[in-house]
Amino acid sequence: MNRRDILKTCSLFAVGSMFNLFKFEDALAVEGSYFKKYKKTLLVKEDGTPLKETDIQSNTALLFFYPYRSTPCYIINTGREVKPLDIKLNNGSVYRFTGGIGSKKGIVAYSAICPHQWSYPTKDFSLLNYYSSKEKSEITGKSGVIQCCAHISVFDPINGGSIVEGPAEFPLAAVSLVMEGGSIYATGIIGKDQFSEFFDLYKSDMIEQFGSLEKAKEEMDKTVVMEVEKHVKEQIKC
Ligand code: FES
Repeated sequence: MNRRDILKTCSLFAVGSMFNLFKFEDALAVEGSYFKKYKKTLLVKEDGTPLKETDIQSNTALLFFYPYRSTPCYIINTGREVKPLDIKLNNGSVYRFTGGIGSKKGIVAYSAICPHQWSYPTKDFSLLNYYSSKEKSEITGKSGVIQCCAHISVFDPINGGSIVEGPAEFPLAAVSLVMEGGSIYATGIIGKDQFSEFFDLYKSDMIEQFGSLEKAKEEMDKTVVMEVEKHVKEQIKC
């Protein structure tokens, strides 16, 4: 994707945000809870067997879909303990991020929908990407972060997806993970999810890809975890 395409994409996000401004503020006003339980979904490998913590290399993000078959997430083995913490929002609300899972408590997962203007990893490209501790963003100089190159919002996977810098007003929503018998399940979303804005903005894309919005919103018993490159042609880092 060249510079012009990136700018065009960013303009689309800006227009989308104008359309969604009312609902966005409205949702904030009525939101009382920052944990929503969804279908308990087993994370599996591409061969259908349950994903184990040893399948996720340290400092690596893999991609899966949750809670809906159309909504992408990153699961990251941070390689270090991720502690629970309270996250405070700009509106004064506080919610509890439950920390990492696994033997080192270093595995976390986040919804890969940018809370600024809903950029997400499509089959063609992704502006919202994980930067391991071994790579540095050219623009922000940050490592070990999830960064969105649409308007340079940076999120910290070690601290519950909280905002490091940029225009986003909400942290990344986290996926609640549990480990049972060595298998990993997703059970819900912690934080301010972006699904209603996402489905409003990308309604026609969803219908084109899945046949209907209802199908795009199907929840699953199992979700396949894959290398990001398997789903996204170009990860645009900045
Ligand atoms: S969509 Fe604006 S920073 Fe991600």
